[in-house]
Amino acid sequence: MPIKANQINDWVAEIIDLDVNNMASEVKEEVEELFSRNHVILFRDQALAPTQLSRFGKQFGILETPINQLYVHPECDEVLILSNEVRPDGTPVGLVDGGDGWHTDSSHIATPSKATILQSIKNPNVGGDTIYCNMHLVFDALPPQTRYRIAGRSGVHNVSKTINPRMTVSAKRPDAKEFYENAAKTRPSVLQPMVRTHPVTGRQSLYVSPRFTIGIDAMDDSEAQPLLDELFEYIYDERFQYRHVWSDRDIVMWDNRCLNHKATGNLAPGDIRRMHRIVLAGEEAYYDPQGKPLA
Ligand SMILES: [Fe+2]
Repeated sequence: MPIKANQINDWVAEIIDLDVNNMASEVKEEVEELFSRNHVILFRDQALAPTQLSRFGKQFGILETPINQLYVHPECDEVLILSNEVRPDGTPVGLVDGGDGWHTDSSHIATPSKATILQSIKNPNVGGDTIYCNMHLVFDALPPQTRYRIAGRSGVHNVSKTINPRMTVSAKRPDAKEFYENAAKTRPSVLQPMVRTHPVTGRQSLYVSPRFTIGIDAMDDSEAQPLLDELFEYIYDERFQYRHVWSDRDIVMWDNRCLNHKATGNLAPGDIRRMHRIVLAGEEAYYDPQGKPLA
């Protein structure tokens, strides 16, 4: 039986009346097909334990291991807790500053993520939205001279906030300063094509982000940084965005190969937000360094 879905816009779909914990294989294939035509898909009212969330994700690929093991779920270390909750002893329950700058997940590793699945456990009364930017639309909107300047170029990506002048290290997260200072020494930058071709649709997108792209390979910063600023302005443009206002028990799956996203924060004092996140690893063949469609 075909799944039922509403299009929220051209690239965001909401799946209706589906229990993702009990999907027959043909239903899973329909979900994959819908995901190939949309960059964000939304499932409402899903009550999955961490191990069930992990099992759901593994139907679509291999899961990444979170690089910060301090905040993985005690029942399942593939599930990262994003939260502002604090235990009675003052220690944080989850990563408090996750997603606080525009980015695409894992672009700081050689083979970045294919997709992310985020489950809402507890929503704040105000704030806590996630915004997505469609980088296909951004690429399409670039002036020809800008496309010419980035053609064949690679961005320099690094996970550390301490070497990224566009980011600040959150004072709310106790381990953040040490984590990012250590990352700056131990996690080398990687190069990613600035223009990426989607392996399923063959469509091109801009593949940079303010959170992880700190320079342009073989281009002096005097030229590269203003060019990056010019590109980032497109990401901030609401014409290319979808804002997801979460309900408890929502699950959203998004395509990291052609989106940027950002957690908006702005929670009221004392309000709680808790999400569980799993990340689908990328497949090397998806990341053609020449940025051309795969054969
Ligand atoms: Fe993210």
